[in-house]
Formats: sequence, structure tokens, C-alpha cells
Amino acid sequence: MTGSVAEQAEPHSDPAADPILVVDGLHKRYGDGPVAVDDITLNVRRGEFVSLVGPSGCGKTTLMKCISGLLRPTSGRVALDGAEIDGPPREMVLVFQDYSRSLYPWLTVFDNVEMPLKASKQTRATVDRAERKARVTEALEAVGLAAAGPKYPWQLSGGMQQRVALARAIAFRSEILLLDEPFASVDALVREELEDLVLRLRQRFGITVILVTHDIDEAVYLSDRVFVLGPPPSKVVREVAIDLPRPRDQLSTRRLPEFGDLRLVIHEDIMRRPAKNSSGAEEERP
Ligand SMILES: Nc1ncnc2c1ncn2[C@@H]1O[C@H](COP(=O)(O)OP(=O)(O)OP(=O)(O)O)[C@@H](O)[C@H]1O
Ligand SMILES: [Mg+2]
Repeated sequence: MTGSVAEQAEPHSDPAADPILVVDGLHKRYGDGPVAVDDITLNVRRGEFVSLVGPSGCGKTTLMKCISGLLRPTSGRVALDGAEIDGPPREMVLVFQDYSRSLYPWLTVFDNVEMPLKASKQTRATVDRAERKARVTEALEAVGLAAAGPKYPWQLSGGMQQRVALARAIAFRSEILLLDEPFASVDALVREELEDLVLRLRQRFGITVILVTHDIDEAVYLSDRVFVLGPPPSKVVREVAIDLPRPRDQLSTRRLPEFGDLRLVIHEDIMRRPAKNSSGAEEERP
């Protein structure tokens, strides 16, 4: 929906609220290999939209996996609502770039969205069949795929498959949506539609969103705050508050002079960061 109003009202973010997620001194090394994440500390407020940007290989996916409980940090901690995470918590769903691998090809769209509700030990007792059906129907409607339930993933376009992945998170009632470059494989117009869809879903269901993206414009357009990560092994090198008005709009928001200023600040920051040379000493990028 290029150029259309993506949200109805102000964001849920309340600067005074307690953080829903705290990442404190997170350090991750894969076995004896190089350090993937050096020392990340950040927090995310309930209902906030936060983006992480940084150079390739700086540890963004590793960080997201640690946040989602799929990976255990080597040191440091991740806490959700004050409780340390020690496995995948049901409040979070992670959506990756590769939509073809996030859906089960042998299941219909409906069954794909319903799957986590059946498979989750925590929810099995509470989500009965009628409730599951109601939730899946609502979620597919929310992502504009009300009629796609009986279809199979391979019958859908890439953008539609990514919407199914989002529907799964909605049906699951995720409090936090973790998006790791979810729109990188779709064309520019579909990408804008998906960006606005995520804004609307966040608005309607009060979800907190953490997005990893290479696209600085996308980060500025969507976020309340952007964390810039440095070259590997990563640290947060800058936190940028995106105080652009909401609701945001693909055309008018991106035309604001402040939009250009913010994207420039982030871009220059990424370009100017010193890279480490082979001896480990820091050198300025050309
Ligand atoms: N399973 C793994 N085992 C060993 N090393 C890994 C593993 N996954 C990632 N790494 C290494 O950790 C570092 C960070 O990788 P990661 O995928 O987190 O970076 P990224 O910022 O997501 O990169 P990109 O922007 O290209 O997606 C890289 O050096 C990578 O080779
Ligand atoms: Mg990655």
C-alpha cells in the first residue's frame, strides 16, 4: 500500500515504561571460533519498534538468536519482563529472511499458521480447537490472506509467504516480533507493503518489534529507535531516536527533511567506523 497511511494513531511506546526486554553485556563466541558478538547492552520498551543496523557479519543474527532463546550467550544475559531467558519463550517469534524455509511446504497455509499453537507445550492446555481456528482466521485476515487458508506455500508469492510467517506470530500472540531481514528477498513495492503491514499489526495487536535490516531508510521509516552496531565483533556504537511523527506514510514521511538528516547520521556512522586490520589494530575505512 505505497503512499497510504500505515497506522491509525500514535505508537505504544512509553518512554517511562519498564523495558520488556533487557540485553546486558551479551557476549557470544561459537566454540573456539571468533567472537560473533562482543558486548551488547540495550533495552527495548513495551510496544517499541527498534531496529538494529550494522555491517555484514557483525553478529546481528547471532544477537537475535540469543534474544529469542535459540542460542545461549557465552556470557551476559537476556531478560524478558525481568526473567532471564533460558530457552525459546512463547512470547517471541523469530521471522527470517528466507521465507521458503520458515513454512512447512507439505502443510496448507492454515495448518502452517496453526502449527505453533498445537506444538507449544505451554499453550496446548489452553488453546483448544475452536480457539485455534478463531485465531488462525483472525491472523490470516489481519495480513490480508483471508482466502489463502487452503492453499500451499508454494502456490503463494514470496511476499505472501512472508505474510503467512507474520500471521503465525499474530495467531501465536507473540508479545515480541523478531524480524531478521524479513523483506530482503522481495521486490521494492512488496517490501513497502510489508513494512506498512508490520506497522499496522504492531498497532492493532500492541506488539513490540525488533528488526534487523541492512536498509537504513527502512530502519528510519519504521522505528522509534535505531541501534547502530559496529564492525565485528559487535558493540552498539550509537543509539538514534527516531522522533518522526506517526502515523508514518511511505511518501510523505520519507520526504521530510528530518528523515534525510536521520538516515545521513546513521549512514555516516556506519561508514566512518574504524575496521580492524589483520593485526587487530583499528584503521579508518577509506
Ligand atoms: N553457527 C555458527 N557457527 C560458527 N560461527 C558462526 C555461526 N553463525 C555465525 N557465525 C559467525 O559469527 C559471526 C557473526 O555472524 P552473524 O550471522 O550473526 O552476522 P550478521 O550480522 O547477521 O551477518 P549478515 O549481515 O551477513 O546477516 C560471523 O563471523 C559468522 O561467520
Ligand atoms: Mg544475519
